Amino acid sequence: EDAATLFTPLKIRGVTLRNRIAMSPMCQYSSEDGFANDWHLAHHAARAVGGAGLLIAEATGVVPEGRITPHCLGVWKDEHIPALRRVTDFITAHGSVPGIQLAHAGVKASRHRPWHPQRGQYVPVEEGGWLPVGPTARRYRDDGPVPHELTVAEIRGIVGSFAEAAQRSIRAGFRVIELHFAHGYLGHGFLSPLMNERTDEYGGSFENRVRFLLESVRAVRAALPEEAPLFVRFSCTDWVEGGWTLEDSVKAARLVKEEGVDLIDCSTGGASRNADIPVGPDYQVPFAAEIRGKTGILTGAVGLITEPAQANAIIADGRADLVLLGRELLRDPNWPLRAWVDLESETPPPIAREYAWALGETRR
Ligand code: FNR
Repeated sequence: EDAATLFTPLKIRGVTLRNRIAMSPMCQYSSEDGFANDWHLAHHAARAVGGAGLLIAEATGVVPEGRITPHCLGVWKDEHIPALRRVTDFITAHGSVPGIQLAHAGVKASRHRPWHPQRGQYVPVEEGGWLPVGPTARRYRDDGPVPHELTVAEIRGIVGSFAEAAQRSIRAGFRVIELHFAHGYLGHGFLSPLMNERTDEYGGSFENRVRFLLESVRAVRAALPEEAPLFVRFSCTDWVEGGWTLEDSVKAARLVKEEGVDLIDCSTGGASRNADIPVGPDYQVPFAAEIRGKTGILTGAVGLITEPAQANAIIADGRADLVLLGRELLRDPNWPLRAWVDLESETPPPIAREYAWALGETRR
């Protein structure tokens, strides 16, 4: 058996990943009207050729108002499908699996992209922004607008938009769907007592705060083919007293597992700007390990995973089933090849044949 456990395939429903290395979803802020373009092709193509088993496309708006910025990717209309198809076809042709993170930014929507001089601040309506919506009409930043509190009918509409976006994503060639319930965006906003002050059936008790999650999961699962894996990204803790906790995440993971979710992608934070987060290598891995151990659901570990031995140990020790790399895959799209060399994997080199033949068996 290959000691490089990182390179053992992972089968989930009808999809087999060639290894345990996934690209974490990362906003590119480079779309107009939600459309994918050459940038998205280049971004995904490099990492498919570079050997990752799964690529999860950035937080993608299920409705236009669900985008973090006016330049985020979208899948709210059929017209988006052909340009996405071009990206997924290339990924698939090179042996990787295209996944997509479906998202609604909630109260954190309509902001400037990071390289704008007013990064993070809200884009005014006159400049192409819109009024953000959320579980509660409470400002996320003091300099931001008071969001619109969603009515029950509007909440049900968004649940439907998630399901339609999932169907469209499948038609666009994506084979793994991830729902974004992390980082203070709409899904997490319903879960976290720090962001949800509702007094109706969508707020208050744990059972009420997970209602939007369960309704979304049910609607999306029903819209997906049986063979398509469904992931959910959680912020497993708010890192704030009185916020959403790991214990809550374990309970929620059990509930969504029963509804046909296959994997929890374990991130943290984002509900509060005052959280004190102990960032460091592997800092979120214990959440993936605990949820996996307590519920038996597959988990993904993410956050400052940068070294091949580190990533391999996470899989080999059974702390997670998948490692997701964000910034390290931006630095080095061919990171899987580096890991393959370092770990002396016995699998074929994880790089396109156009390069593999030239690199030979030298492992240098
Ligand atoms: C992110 N992150 C992120 N997370 C998410 O769930 N959806 C997203 O669209 C984005 N967008 C995004 C853009 C960029 C440029 C970065 C750097 C990060 C968070 C990301 O997926 C990951 O969880 C963190 O970056 C931590 O992993 P690394 O970068 O330490 O490997």
